[in-house]
Amino acid sequence: MADLGTNGMVAIKTGKVVPKSATIIGEPVFSDLLDRVEGLSSEALQRHGFNGSADDVLVLADETQTRVLLGVGSSDSIDPRSFRRAAAAFVRRADRHVKAGFDLQGALEVLERSEDGAERSTSLVGAVSEGLLLGSYTFTTYKKPAKGVVDSSTVTVAVGERAGKLAKAMTPARSIAGAVGFARDLVNEPGGTLTPTEFAKRAAARAKESGLQAQIMDEKAIAKARLGGLLAVNQGSTEAPRLLKLTYTPDGMGSSTKPTLCLVGKGITFDSGGLSLKPVDSMIGMKNDMAGAAAVIATMCALPALGVTHKVVSFTPMTDNMTGGAAQRPGDIYTARNGKTVEVLNTDAEGRLVLGEALVLASEQKPAAIIDLATLTGACVVALGEKIAGLMSNDDALVERIESAARASGERVWHLPLPEDYRKGLDSKIADLKNIGPRWGGTLTAGLFLREFVAEGIQWAHIDIAGPATTSEVDGENGVGGTGFGVRTLLELISNW
Ligand code: BES
Ligand code: ZN
Ligand code: ZN
Repeated sequence: MADLGTNGMVAIKTGKVVPKSATIIGEPVFSDLLDRVEGLSSEALQRHGFNGSADDVLVLADETQTRVLLGVGSSDSIDPRSFRRAAAAFVRRADRHVKAGFDLQGALEVLERSEDGAERSTSLVGAVSEGLLLGSYTFTTYKKPAKGVVDSSTVTVAVGERAGKLAKAMTPARSIAGAVGFARDLVNEPGGTLTPTEFAKRAAARAKESGLQAQIMDEKAIAKARLGGLLAVNQGSTEAPRLLKLTYTPDGMGSSTKPTLCLVGKGITFDSGGLSLKPVDSMIGMKNDMAGAAAVIATMCALPALGVTHKVVSFTPMTDNMTGGAAQRPGDIYTARNGKTVEVLNTDAEGRLVLGEALVLASEQKPAAIIDLATLTGACVVALGEKIAGLMSNDDALVERIESAARASGERVWHLPLPEDYRKGLDSKIADLKNIGPRWGGTLTAGLFLREFVAEGIQWAHIDIAGPATTSEVDGENGVGGTGFGVRTLLELISNW
């Protein structure tokens, strides 16, 4: 797999010290060690409003060199998350420099005194590398960079004497950031360009290059497989649906082995709401309604490079949700692949229809666990805001695994319940289920709806990424647009499974 996405990202390497040729230098500063900053007293720093708190930035420039001081909080609790954000803040200021340096020596010296110093140093270099790569991501397909921005710059991360060893920490970081960049590219692409056909084609091409097996189901195969929910959503569109299945089999493992994990992602390439049409303002951004599928596909593509030792299979249903003459009507009933009938009372609750079918297919693989990612409900954004995903599951151990993977990777998830007594909110008088519940708690009823399509005895988690899949402002390692949310958590989870 190519390490970097098609988008612009800087090149990174390690060095013992910051190269003399660097015209811009990033210096992480601990809030309790302000006196270590060269050439400036802590009083002077504070007068400039710089305290070394996380996200503090102070730029000092002279004729030949720019110094960027980056607050990372206290040295007693070194947090890779602050360093990831600091590296991203730095690299955004370095886009007119060919050679840049990021001085990590001081932080590594502090860490090396701690007990598990070697391990923590490796993850710190990993986090900084991710921050540099992800912070420099730009979606340049339709807009050229501003004048003066250089198209290739290199950032040397100064790590002192252990440069050789720590250089290895950059290798997985490059694969991870490359995958996040690929997911962002897909999410940022307009719905009119990234049709289901195009989405499946691009994803399958990248998957094959990466060493995965890719199988595209077209409309005939989807009909033959009786994926009623996917067909129902696709009815109103002139674009054909697709379902992409990707398989990663580790070297030496038989192809008949059951997968450890199945991943499922919502791939609505544009969500107009269907006949339950969205209001004008709510429709903006609905090209991003395939972010779950993008994250799943990008994750799959990074598994070979990361040398994952588990078999993983993904299912990503793809269609847009449109209003054509053949569109499903509120009140229509379809039959899902697992035989359940569903009364569709709101065609804008379409994600659960396509995900249900993918969850049935995933269940048939008899994996130990299934995880799905979806921009599923506006209610989840109301509850948790734009930066935190909702996590629902039928298994508490799986919740803990996902929570700890998210923590390590710098993504935020919050555990929400699947209340048993809310299930009756989905009862229909004339079918097995209806596709909407009562007005309140829409995220939870959506989760309960999905649970109906997971086979008994399989651990399953649903991550509602409607909020964090995109961002409207620069925030740490995320620039405006698609964030690739979920890729890092999934890769961390699968690598340590
Ligand atoms: N794609 C939307 C959810 C969404 C909303 C994602 C805002 C990102 C930002 C989903 O298909 C949808 O429209 N859900 C409805 C469900 C309702 C009709 C039960 C919603 O959230 O309003
Ligand atoms: Zn919708
Ligand atoms: Zn949707």
